[in-house]
Amino acid sequence: MNMRVSKTRMIACLGVLTLTAGLAAGCGGGGGAAQSGEPREPEAIYKQLCINCHGNNLEGRSAPALKTIGATKSAEEIAGIIQKGQNGMPSFGKMLKPEEIQALADWLAAKK
Ligand code: HEC
Repeated sequence: MNMRVSKTRMIACLGVLTLTAGLAAGCGGGGGAAQSGEPREPEAIYKQLCINCHGNNLEGRSAPALKTIGATKSAEEIAGIIQKGQNGMPSFGKMLKPEEIQALADWLAAKK
């Protein structure tokens, strides 16, 4: 992990920190190292990173509802959107570990 990556990561963390106080735990321990530490639970990641746009209960807010996303999209498609972003949806490929994206996608794909 070089300086540039960890600095970017820190800035990303700080940015989200201003949105959600809950992220303090997520950013505090690892020193911004995306690839170390235990993967977080999908619900915890959702609350930290997704809730502002997709709503407390997946009901949608500025972004579409995800309550029944599994009915129209596969886990693979959802993982791709989380990874790369799409239109107004930011990409989380640099903020989340691959296994976290996968777990989040599987969790969402089960919402039907
Ligand atoms: C800054 C606001 C924002 C945040 C934060 C955000 N999203 Fe999104 N998301 C959007 C928007 C806007 C769209 C619609 C994109 C489009 O029209 O193509 C979207 C679309 C999606 C879709 C596809 C929905 C569909 O019906 O096709 C999924 C899945 C998704 N987001 C998951 C997530 C997850 C998981 C997170 C957290 C890791 C997240 N989003 C965080 C704004 C956001």
